Amino acid sequence: MKKTIALLCGGISAERDVSLKSGEQVFQALNKAKYDVRRYDPQCDLPRLVADAGDIDAALIILHGPHGEDGTVQGLLELLDIPFQGTGVLGSAVCMNKLAAKQMYATSNIPVPPAVALKREDPVNGRALADQLGLPLVVKPIKGGSSIGMTIVRRQEGIAAAMAKAFEQDDTALMEAYIQGIEITGAVLGNDDPQALPLIEIIPDATHDFFDYEAKYTAGVTQEICPARISPALTEKAQRYARMAHEALFCKGYSRTDMIVRGEDIFVLETNTIPGMTPTSLFPQAAQAAGISFDRLLDRLIELGVEAHGRR
Ligand SMILES: Nc1ncnc2c1ncn2[C@@H]1O[C@H](COP(=O)(O)OP(=O)(O)O)[C@@H](O)[C@H]1O
Ligand SMILES: [Mg+2]
Repeated sequence: MKKTIALLCGGISAERDVSLKSGEQVFQALNKAKYDVRRYDPQCDLPRLVADAGDIDAALIILHGPHGEDGTVQGLLELLDIPFQGTGVLGSAVCMNKLAAKQMYATSNIPVPPAVALKREDPVNGRALADQLGLPLVVKPIKGGSSIGMTIVRRQEGIAAAMAKAFEQDDTALMEAYIQGIEITGAVLGNDDPQALPLIEIIPDATHDFFDYEAKYTAGVTQEICPARISPALTEKAQRYARMAHEALFCKGYSRTDMIVRGEDIFVLETNTIPGMTPTSLFPQAAQAAGISFDRLLDRLIELGVEAHGRR
């Protein structure tokens, strides 16, 4: 019997376009012999989703950012008793908030760049921040993704403008020490004892000083090398951190943790609970390197979601 899958994409966050693109590719790749796929855009289709809940076997949430990746949609699906792929309410909310995530990493001895969080109304002392964190420093909204609202500040005078940009996305900004090094990302897959997939090294071209929105989504701008060209010892350490982060932040099913390698040290930046999902996105590339094709990955995510739901 075919399973009825609710494919959720679109939504209302700044990453709506990314979600729609991923959603379209996921729709194309889902095996129609196995699945009857219905699409829902949370921007306008939530009443229809609620009405259809009894017919739906599982949901695939292909939404990024607030009101999609942050536990809200996961909570609605829990209430409707619909299994969904990946992390639940708690882990989604923790991972979406980069400050909460940092606090959880710290309690699990996962190294992170030094940082200071500032609310919109807090007084700002640019010199003290530059002294404390060094320059350059990174300013990012605590909730967000796809590098939206993020700036690398190279001179103290740039701090105010960078904060104003971050505050367009959120009421709290995170100021982080800039880590110069090799950027990598570590995908993790599975419910019990999840497996770390091969690491991917990320190299934006010379015209982009970090993995910004354009570098993430414009074909050809960023080189993505899998497996990452780091030593076996560093590979083992980064994969261990990716699994530790998955565990520490209450992730389920799959996750992808962004990191920077500097010498023998690794710093964790963030954990994504709904990583990009086009066939050429980072998580699917890592799965491919482990022998899991895109359509099989989607099958696996649905299976893992149904299995986890069964246990609840
Ligand atoms: N502390 C940092 N040092 C160096 N680069 C950083 C730092 N924080 C973020 N970046 C750069 O910005 C990108 C986006 O940051 P990240 O924390 O992963 O947020 P997002 O949720 O937007 O992906 C990273 O992939 C990296 O290129
Ligand atoms: Mg990231």
